[in-house]
Order: sequence, then C-alpha cells, then structure tokens
Amino acid sequence: MPGAHDQLSKYNKIEAFVKGFKLSTSSYKRVMHLLNQEMNQGLMRHSQPLADIKMFPTFVRSLPDGSEKGDFLALDLGGTNFRVLLVRLQGHDIDIQSKTYLIPQRIMLGTGTQLFDHIADCIGKFVRDHNLSGQTLPLGFTFSFPCKQEGLAKARLSKWTKGFRCEGVVGEDICQLLQEALKRRTNCSVEIVAIVNDAVGTLMSAAHVDRNCEIGLILGTGCNACYMETLENVQTWDEEKSHPDQVIINTEWGAFGDNGCLDFLRTEYDRELDTFSINPGRQIMEKMIGGMYMGEIVRLVLERLNMEGLLFRSVDNECDLFERGRFYTKYVSEIESDTDDFYHNTKQVLDEIGVENYTTEDCKIVKYVCTLISARAAFLAAAGLATLINRINKTDITIAVDGSLYRFHPRFHNLMCLKIQELVKPGIKFKLALSHDGSGKGAALTAAVSLRLRNTKVIPDTLPAMSELPVRIGIKQKA
Ligand code: BGC
Repeated sequence: MPGAHDQLSKYNKIEAFVKGFKLSTSSYKRVMHLLNQEMNQGLMRHSQPLADIKMFPTFVRSLPDGSEKGDFLALDLGGTNFRVLLVRLQGHDIDIQSKTYLIPQRIMLGTGTQLFDHIADCIGKFVRDHNLSGQTLPLGFTFSFPCKQEGLAKARLSKWTKGFRCEGVVGEDICQLLQEALKRRTNCSVEIVAIVNDAVGTLMSAAHVDRNCEIGLILGTGCNACYMETLENVQTWDEEKSHPDQVIINTEWGAFGDNGCLDFLRTEYDRELDTFSINPGRQIMEKMIGGMYMGEIVRLVLERLNMEGLLFRSVDNECDLFERGRFYTKYVSEIESDTDDFYHNTKQVLDEIGVENYTTEDCKIVKYVCTLISARAAFLAAAGLATLINRINKTDITIAVDGSLYRFHPRFHNLMCLKIQELVKPGIKFKLALSHDGSGKGAALTAAVSLRLRNTKVIPDTLPAMSELPVRIGIKQKA
C-alpha cells in the first residue's frame, strides 16, 4: 500500500500534466478581448477577407412573431446524420415528423456529387413515404458549415469543418447543388426558400417563443454562435439598409485562434489533437470545445498518465485507450455523471474501451481529468458568450443553446452560467435556454418568416428616394 507521502507525490505529478487546463479569470478576459478584436476584423470590409472569424451576414433580419403558418420541408445536415423533416406550423403549434439517415464516412470524404445525390435520394424517399409527391413544398435547409451567404437561398461553402471533406463543394452554391441533385435523382418539386446555419436555426426556434432571444449557440460535434447585430456595425453588408436595421451574424467563431492568437493557452494535448486531425491548424477554438474533439483530448491525457506510470497498472496494447478517436465525448458526460465513490459509469466506460485491472483511485483520476477538460470547454464557450452579451449590451438577454454536448453533459450549463456571470458587465441579466430541435424547426421557421415577409406590403415611414426602390423589409431574397 502506498503511504500518504507517495500518494501526495503521485497527485502532484498528475497535476503537472494537467495544469494547463486550469486557466485564470484573467486568461478568460484576455480571450474575450482577443475575440472581440477578431470579430471586429470580420465585420470590417478591408479586413474581412483575411479574418479568421468570418462574421457572415445571414440575410435573416427578422425573428418569428408566432404568426407563421404552413407546411414546410426541412433538411438538417451537419454531423454524421442527415435528417429530413416535415414541419407543420400553425402559429405556436408545431407538428414535426422526421426521419434520420446515416451519412457513411465514404460519403463524408467522397465527392460533392455523391453527397448531394445521397441527400436527394433520402428526400425522394421521405416525400414518397409521407405521400407528399405532387405538391410543391417550400424547403428550409440547415447546413451547418461556414458559408458566405449571397441571399437567403444562396450560400457558398467557404470550407468544410468537422469530419467532412467532400471534393468540389468549397466555393459552390449549396442550394444549387441540392437543386441539381434533386432534379437528377428525383421528381420532387420543392422550392428552396432558405439555407441557414444550425446556430441561426437554434436562435430562430427559441425566438419563436422568447422575445429576448438574440444569441444562438451550438455545443455539439462542433461549436459556433450567432447573434443579432445592427447593420451600422456590419461594413460587409452590401444590401439595402432598410428597416429592420439588423441582421443575424453567423460568427463562425470555431476558427478563433487559427492565426495563433490562442497559442498562449493551448496545451501539448491540443497541439497533438490538431496535428492528427483532418484539418490541422484550422478550427482551433472548436477543437477545445466541440464534442468531436473533447473525448480525444481526454484520451491523450489518460494515455500520457498511463505512460508516466501514474494511471492503470497494466493495460493491453490493443486497448482503445491507445487508439485515436476511440474515446468518445459521450463517455466524458457519462463519467462526470457519477456522483458517488462507486464510479458505476466510469467503470462501465473503462470496461467498454478494454481497460482491465483498474482501481477505484484510477476511476477518480479519470473523472478528475474529464472535469478539467470539460470545464475549460464550458468556460471558453462562456467567455465567447460574455463577449457577445457585452457587445449587444441589452439588460435582459436570452441565449438559445442546442447540441449534444450541452444536452448530455451534466454540468455544462451550470459551469457556463457561473463563468458568464463573472465576465459580463454588471447589471446585465442573461438566461441560457435549451432550444428544442433548432436545426429542424429553425430552418422551417426561417423559410416561413421569409414567405410571410414576401407577402407583406410595407408602408415605409418616409418615402424612399427613387434609387432606393423597390422597398422591402425583413428577410431578403436575391433573384
Ligand atoms: C461549423 C459551424 C457549425 C458548428 C456547429 C462548425 O464546425 O463551422 O457552421 O455551426 O460546427 O455545428
């Protein structure tokens, strides 16, 4: 049995390997300052092309008001699954039927044609199965990758993120690729009315019921946020500046740090994860927060502790602990859900990845590592939110949140709230609200708001100059 002294020295050694995850409040304040600077770069015309944080204007300028009606198709593509939904809106009543289809990895890493053909096939099947053939349905598409929008239904992919790398899609108009594939593979008649990012869908979906909602946050496979910005601050907005003088900005803050400005807080594990990822040097902030990466960071630390003789006495070489990508983020949530010293979930995870011969102390160490890495992720996300909250500068603000990490991690919500409270300007009240099915419902709502505004006759406050005609408000659609 090790003595108390040995125990202490072991814990001190472990501490040396994980201390990089414990950041001071002043580090988070530095993150906020840098993020704010980088966001300004993304909003200014001269600096936007080279800025890491792209701050894409989305063409969504009005939030739902609860009067939206009609049947819509919605698509949701952003992770390993693809969903097709039929959304029936009747004011605040919403009925959703949906079906999830897997996107095999060979398609995620194949060609754009294969991807869009697969999507079109799934839509064709869904339309047949739901007896929707023969009608033209408006469609909202949640496409959760960075896109430069040129209209509400025109968006060019700026780069792939997460596990995707389909050839021939970067720079292309996603709606056009979908429309062409639908024509090739089906005889469905749909009108693509809107293409939105999942953060935007999440915001739209929550704003449907909460008027104070002005920020959308995704904590899932990836991480991103959007918010309502006044047009005056968006130099890159080339369109008319008519009422409403606001637009949702898709920040794409996952790319924060790609220029090295976050190097001061990255650990050796973050660097290793990045080196072996499919997009080295890209999505640095996302790689410290997103569910696609968190489990892997934990694995790298556990592997290191094992190699240093500080964790698990004997582990088989074949064990998943030594295999990249085999320690999932859902394990982190499960392990942290253990509340007593029996470590029921932790043991189950260790069994699952093939670690044999672990002690209760090993379980304690594994859980400790998970808590440090998830807390850093929650605090970084909180620093990002606090930056946006301070920017918007309203006294009462709701943040709509969605994503598997937020949903399933037992402490993410509380950790974020505590840190935001510490970082926002005094006197601001904020609330984090789970947005249910933002990706599905949000795309349909965006499409619905667009159709509602298309049919709205506007009487402007002042008569426009000839050059300003025609006058439209709200969500705009380019021909
Ligand atoms: C993408 C974003 C998306 C986020 C969450 C990131 O990798 O760049 O567009 O919103 O993941 O899904």
